[in-house]
This record gives sequence, structure tokens and C-alpha cells, in this order.
Amino acid sequence: MTPAIQQHSASELFAHALRFENRADPYPVYEQLLRQPVVRMADGSWLATGHREIGLLLRDPRISADRLNPQLQPVRKSLLMEDPPRHDQLRQAVARHFVPRIMGMRDHIDALVTGLLDAHTTERPGQLDVVGDLAYPLPVTVICELLGVPREDERLFGALARRLTRGLDPVDTQSEKEIRELQETRAELAEYLEGLIARHRADGGGDLLAGLMNDQAPDGPMDAIDLRVTLGLLLIAGHETTVNLIANGTLALLRHPDLLTRLRNDPGLATPLVEEVLRHDPPVQMSGRSTLADIDIAGTTVPKGSRIRLLLAAGNRDPRRFADPSRFLPDRADNAHLGFGGGIHYCIGATLARAEAQIALTVLARRLVSPRLVADPPPYRENAILRGPEQLPVAFERLLPDPRGK
Ligand code: HEM
Repeated sequence: MTPAIQQHSASELFAHALRFENRADPYPVYEQLLRQPVVRMADGSWLATGHREIGLLLRDPRISADRLNPQLQPVRKSLLMEDPPRHDQLRQAVARHFVPRIMGMRDHIDALVTGLLDAHTTERPGQLDVVGDLAYPLPVTVICELLGVPREDERLFGALARRLTRGLDPVDTQSEKEIRELQETRAELAEYLEGLIARHRADGGGDLLAGLMNDQAPDGPMDAIDLRVTLGLLLIAGHETTVNLIANGTLALLRHPDLLTRLRNDPGLATPLVEEVLRHDPPVQMSGRSTLADIDIAGTTVPKGSRIRLLLAAGNRDPRRFADPSRFLPDRADNAHLGFGGGIHYCIGATLARAEAQIALTVLARRLVSPRLVADPPPYRENAILRGPEQLPVAFERLLPDPRGK
């Protein structure tokens, strides 16, 4: 039996994992934290790292999705932080309008990827920043089109989205100034979204925002605040997550040239490959909850009213669940990773994110001749929770034309 880790060392290890110098590879620290699947930290909060335990907690009705520090509490919570029954009403409204719109989008996503690659390489032949040139603009374009947000407003809300997601990181990793700015950023985003909603009310249109505004739910459409908060959630989720899935997937492929060759010859590999990226190097590293009752788990009791962090990325490397967890093996059977969470808050954008990443990686593998990483590891972004490279420079010999001649 492995010795349990002491409370103070769990806190120290967790703080160590969050430190920027470990951003490129926090996994060896997670491996140490995994020795105890649920542990109380020195500040009285809890940390779950075990795959089984995180899965149980995500599905436990005695758990609330409200995990925010009261200092950062917004005026109205989004469905991500809400519990039933409000969560379910909001989620159903989104599902009614979001899910049907993402069906049948694969050809369009393929055309966007092709266009981004073609546009880019004429400017700087032989070099690509996979983040700036593809992984970021692709999901942003798609989410803007879906929601009915003008793409040219990106200048404005792109920076806001960045600042807001930094606000998700543990509060002790943020400066006073960043916390103050977070409140201002929320107000700026609210103002932008209100203007957008007002313009939509005047123009109408067939996009998701129009759908939510005119929703025919039994209890009527969302009120103005829920509409704004939900729109903000979708816009930010569409901005700050898929970018890391595409970038982390490209990194994995370029670190495993055999897989790059396989994907080039067999586009069917894209599906298990993206699932393995979501397990091995997930874009959302952790989530959080609070307890509504005492919960007995992993031989301990988490008392009512506790805050608990769920380290999804550690659960994905739990040796009790996955054989050889640190190896990148797209062929592994039964890859039940926690990359999109689980239970009632399971990611609503999972189908879209998967499609974008599968297509982007397949097109990169098919069209780039002899690609290689310019820097390994690449520079990382500050964010600890929505973790991924800031830039991903790739050099290649040439870009093959799109085989379908578009
Ligand atoms: C690779 C990309 C993505 C990853 C890894 C990801 C991951 C996650 C995770 C882990 C959760 C659960 C959070 C929790 O339980 O606390 C979640 C929830 C959510 N995601 Fe995603 N996400 C991605 C893309 C997207 C996209 C593109 C959208 C929509 C535009 C989206 C919208 C949402 C929403 C609305 C929720 C809240 C669902 C609920 O509370 O019921 N996500 N996502």
C-alpha cells in the first residue's frame, strides 16, 4: 500500500503544480498527488484526483456546482455553476437551440480549416503558428457564426474572454489587480452582450441567439440577464477551450511522428486520437464543487459546506483506471476520460469541439510535408485551468494543395 500524503504536502504539491514554471508539464506532480485520491488541504478545502472518486463526485446530488470564492461571485450564475432545477431549465434551452445547429457542420469546418491554412502560408511559407493561425481562429469563427456574433467584434471580446478565464484559476494564484480587473471585465462583457442582444431584437435572424430569445419553453423564454449570461458562457467556452485541444493534439502528433503518418493514411484514427488527447493532456485541467452534505468517500468524510477541487487531468492519469497512464496511446480500449467532465454538467459543446479537433488534425497531417516543432515545449499561457500553449510554431517543407481542389 502506498503511504498517504500529509495534508501540508498535498497543499504544497498542488501549489507546485499550479506554478507557472510547471505549466508545460504538471503531470509528474499530479502523479504524486494521485497517491491519495481525496485529500484535505491545509486551507480546509479538498482535492480529488482519483478517476473513480471524481466520477462519483460529479454524479452525486449532494454536490453543488457552485464552487466560486464569494469574492468572485457574479450577479447571476451561469448554468455551469447552477444546480437543478434551474440548471436543467437553462441547459435544456441551450440544448434545444445549440445541438441541432452543430449537426451537419463538418463540411463547413473542413472548408474553414482549408481556408485558414491556405490564407496563412502565402504570408510566411514554411512556418505556421498552429495556435494563432488555426487553433484559435477556427473555434472563434465557428462559435461566432453559431451564436450570431459579428466576427469583427473579436478584437473586443477576445481580450475580455482571456481575462475572464484567468479569473477561473485558483484565487491565490491571482494578484489583487487581476481580481479587481475581473470585475471590470465582467461589466465590459455584460455591456457588449447587452448591445448585441438589443441589435438582435431589432434585426431578428436565424442564429442561436435569436433561437434563445424566441424560445417557446413552457415557462417562456429566458429573461434578459439569463440570456446575456448564457451567451457569455457559450462565447467564452467556444473561445478558450477548443484552441487548447487542437494545439495539444498537434503537439502530441508532432511528438509521435509514427502517429502523424498513420493519421495521414487513415483519417479514421482522428476519433480515438482526439479522445486520447482529451485524456492525456486535457484542455480543462480541473473543475470545482461544494458539498451540500457530509460525503463519505475514499475512506474519509468531506464535511458539508466544503469546497472541493476535481483535478480532471490527474484522474485521467490514474493508474488504478488506465494502464500505462502517461503514455499517449490512441489505441487504448475503453478510454473513459474526464476531459469533458461528467454527470449533469457534462460539456454541452463536446460534439462540436471533437469535430473541430478531428478535422483540424486530419487536415494538418494530410497537407503539411515534414512538419516539426520549432520549440519543445512551446511557450505556455498563464492560465492553469484552461491550460495550453500560447504559441505553437511549426516548420514544414511545404503545404500540399487541398486534394479536393477547393
Ligand atoms: C475541447 C473543448 C472543450 C473542453 C475540453 C470542454 C470541457 C468542459 C468541461 C470539463 C465541462 C464540465 C465543467 C464542470 O463540470 O464543472 C464543460 C461544461 C460546459 N461546456 Fe465545455 N468544453 C469544451 C468546449 C466547449 C464548447 C465549444 C462549448 C460551447 C460553445 C462548451 C460549452 C460548455 C457548457 C455550456 C458547459 C456547462 C454545461 C453544464 O453546466 O451543464 N464547451 N466543458
